[in-house]
Amino acid sequence: MNILTVKEKIACELSHSEGFISGGELAQRLGVSRNTIWKAVESLREEGFSIDAVSNRGYIMNGRPDIITEASVRSCLPLGDDRNLFVFENIDSTNNFAKELAKNGEPDGTAVISDMQTAGKGRMGRSFSSPPGKSIYMSVILRPNTDMEASQLITSCAAAAAASAIDKVCGTDVEIKWVNDLFLGGRKISGILTEASVSFEAGVLDYAVVGIGINVRTVKDVFDGELLNKATSIEDEIGRSFDRSEIIAAVLTEMGRYVEDIHSKNFLEEYKRRSFIVGKRIIVIKGDTEKEAKAVGISDDAGLEVEYSDGIREILNSGEARIIPD
Ligand code: BTN
Repeated sequence: MNILTVKEKIACELSHSEGFISGGELAQRLGVSRNTIWKAVESLREEGFSIDAVSNRGYIMNGRPDIITEASVRSCLPLGDDRNLFVFENIDSTNNFAKELAKNGEPDGTAVISDMQTAGKGRMGRSFSSPPGKSIYMSVILRPNTDMEASQLITSCAAAAAASAIDKVCGTDVEIKWVNDLFLGGRKISGILTEASVSFEAGVLDYAVVGIGINVRTVKDVFDGELLNKATSIEDEIGRSFDRSEIIAAVLTEMGRYVEDIHSKNFLEEYKRRSFIVGKRIIVIKGDTEKEAKAVGISDDAGLEVEYSDGIREILNSGEARIIPD
């Protein structure tokens, strides 16, 4: 976790190296013996890393495992990013675990990642299907030093950051359906659930847990009928699969960068540019009521500007909108 093991440090060093690094050099950098390096390399190989050893040259990394491990995620993070990572094969909900950590004072940037969830949570109290081996389920603890106004923007800021991260790794052009769904090829590839704790007396955000689910590998064998019309995956749209650890690391990096600058609202321009909903006919859902409208813009607080058939306009700052198919 926060104290990186030799194994994770080696994964980072090899992953960021242009060529071979000798065992002696690694031992010196990490302050351990060459024998310790050798054992840690063996352990990384057992985990699925492809590491070649060539005499008189040293070690070189040729591939990461297909599974998500702490070492695989760390090897994709920039060198020196020593944030706390909690990586699971299976958990009820990464958001639940992250909230417990946050309550106990875990610092900003800490991430909880799992290969599957048994009780994944979606927005509006819905469940979030979380099968193993296909997707990314991750939650990040954020403690931006910010007032309540800026904290309202965290979800939209996170959506822009995640979209940018996926584009960088996968060469996609991800769109955002207000407020926080990521779309590719007209269907959902990712959802975001933000849960926050507010200190009312101080009028500040104590912490936010931003939970993100991203479909990376094909979903054609797990979703059917109605769901398959609405959801897709990066692999289903792009035609090949991507390294989940690389996407996770990119999301963490972009999220940190975007949230640090949340006060400037600079991300809003990108959020608007990525909008999948503006210009479309929609159903505005408020509790039990549904009303047809047209999405006409995104406000400067990341609200959805809508126009009803009687010409009345409204800015929605919460709730849901469903796009009416053409
Ligand atoms: C939605 O589309 O309704 C939001 C889905 C959010 C799912 C993610 S997966 C990681 C994190 N843990 C959860 O239990 N939910 C979020």
